[in-house]
Amino acid sequence: PNSSASLLSPDRIVNIAHRGASGHAPEHTIEAYEMGERMGADYIEIDLQMTKDGQLVAMHDPEVNRTTNEIGLVSEYTLNDMKELDAGSWFNQAYPDKAQESFERLTIPTLHEVFERFGADANYYIEIKQSNESPGMTDSLIHTLKEYELIPTEREGAVIIQSFSKESLQEIHEIEPDLPIIQLISFNQPAEISSQELTEIKKYAVGLGVNYRYINESFVKDVREAGLLLHTYTVNEQKDMRQLLGWGVTGIFTNYPDRLSEVLGTA
Ligand code: G3P
Ligand code: CA
Repeated sequence: PNSSASLLSPDRIVNIAHRGASGHAPEHTIEAYEMGERMGADYIEIDLQMTKDGQLVAMHDPEVNRTTNEIGLVSEYTLNDMKELDAGSWFNQAYPDKAQESFERLTIPTLHEVFERFGADANYYIEIKQSNESPGMTDSLIHTLKEYELIPTEREGAVIIQSFSKESLQEIHEIEPDLPIIQLISFNQPAEISSQELTEIKKYAVGLGVNYRYINESFVKDVREAGLLLHTYTVNEQKDMRQLLGWGVTGIFTNYPDRLSEVLGTA
């Protein structure tokens, strides 16, 4: 791999800290993102949800149940109320061997707070979740990116937008055609994709994001030959990382960016 090539170059392998270094710290907290950076990740991955009062927050699930001490839909919490939640103790209980007392005080970050903390030198890989249930999410995201001068970006690929929703991605592409887009595709059986589908995706996206468990070498070849990048999630074992890199994937989402840095020789 060529670690000086552009983040969007097919010669560059990108290390994406999935929900931050979420194998080491509670996912989607500033602490997990900081660890990701320290472990050599190229990107902080951020899943976005929207609060009742229209604020973008970093959270994977539409409910707070799994990753906080409370229950309920994000869309029924105001930002003020979300900020009261403990976003770290669940991790200490689930992974006692990785527990740290400081995790108990962690809160759910807003997208603003993430950009404030990591600035324009970091790279962000942002997923739009729940866009149908949260109208205004794409507008708000674009507005926030502009506010932090992340549109346009200084470095090519410093912000990537990803989603399973083709409609949301096409909407973003129409408004900001220079913002690179990754189309996530959910396969639940061995992945196949036609050249027509690849041509269609290439009109608005620079690549695909897929679950590594359902792909094989010939799928990787098809995607790469279509001139698209291929990023695979969520790869935590080094033997799987090596196999995927051998097949030609161009990026890996991992909860353990340190393990991928070792494989890439960038540790
Ligand atoms: O965004 C890539 C991967 O994270 C998609 O799955 O459910 O972890 O957001 P999920
Ligand atoms: Ca994601």
